[in-house]
Amino acid sequence: MTDARILDGKSLAATLRSGIAAAVAGLGRSHGVVPGIAMVLVGDDPASHIYVRNKTRQAGECGFFARDILLPANTPESQVLDTVAALNRDPAIHGFLVQMPLPRHIRPEAVIDAVDPAKDADGFHFVNAGYLAMGRDAVIPATPLGCLALIRLAHTDLTGLSAVVIGRSNSVGKPTVQLLLRENCTVTVAHSKSRDLPTIARTADILVAAVGRPELVRGDWVKPGATVIDVGINRLDLGGGKTKMVGDVAFAEAVKVAGAITPVPGGVGPMTIACLLQNTLALCCRKLGVSIPVPA
Ligand code: GUN
Repeated sequence: MTDARILDGKSLAATLRSGIAAAVAGLGRSHGVVPGIAMVLVGDDPASHIYVRNKTRQAGECGFFARDILLPANTPESQVLDTVAALNRDPAIHGFLVQMPLPRHIRPEAVIDAVDPAKDADGFHFVNAGYLAMGRDAVIPATPLGCLALIRLAHTDLTGLSAVVIGRSNSVGKPTVQLLLRENCTVTVAHSKSRDLPTIARTADILVAAVGRPELVRGDWVKPGATVIDVGINRLDLGGGKTKMVGDVAFAEAVKVAGAITPVPGGVGPMTIACLLQNTLALCCRKLGVSIPVPA
């Protein structure tokens, strides 16, 4: 059997970003408005610093007004909530996020609940999660949006396909389930405590792995010809100061069985930032009461 088609998130994200940049420029010409995005980062987590730097840089490259607010790890929760309240009021900011994870003394629910749902670039607020579950107009979390865009490279119509999502987080697993339901898939949600994960996974035409366990999904978990979306970003310590980034799927095995598969890195990861920018542009357009400008 020939190897699976590789779903190239890096190239799809670049295409998406160029469309976003054109739309941002169009909005400037038509309305004299520059969409504004802010990232709040509390603490010293090195991976979070890299993510936030990339988000800010890519937002700037697409023409956004991009701001990051870096707070020390010992910032009291009340000050983080004040920062969120100030961004809710700031007319130059159309969407923002508070990078997760937060230091242990700060309750993530309190912070997420404080974000104005109309500026919730992550789509993490319960109002947006509820709207998505009800099939209403919602801000949809960026990683699930990126997964769906990659799935669409392999399938024009998902109606009736069997989808298995491994992982039930609020940020990825649950919204991915909702999105796939909206696409008329028959969806199974599995997780680390599910019995006989391999058997469940083998029923999937579309298999999404979002559990954060390095190479959990083996080649023989994959139905021949299935589309495999790997959301995992796990750093393996190879010893001698060397590390390797792997996903939740054993890629070398799965690529022999799947019909299409995302690599790690270069699959879902790059799509997340592009979809975050898309969300922020959409929030800006919603505030102006215009539809998203189609690139010329
Ligand atoms: N940490 C890792 N991914 C994300 C994300 O998409 N949004 C936020 N706010 N924090 C994250």
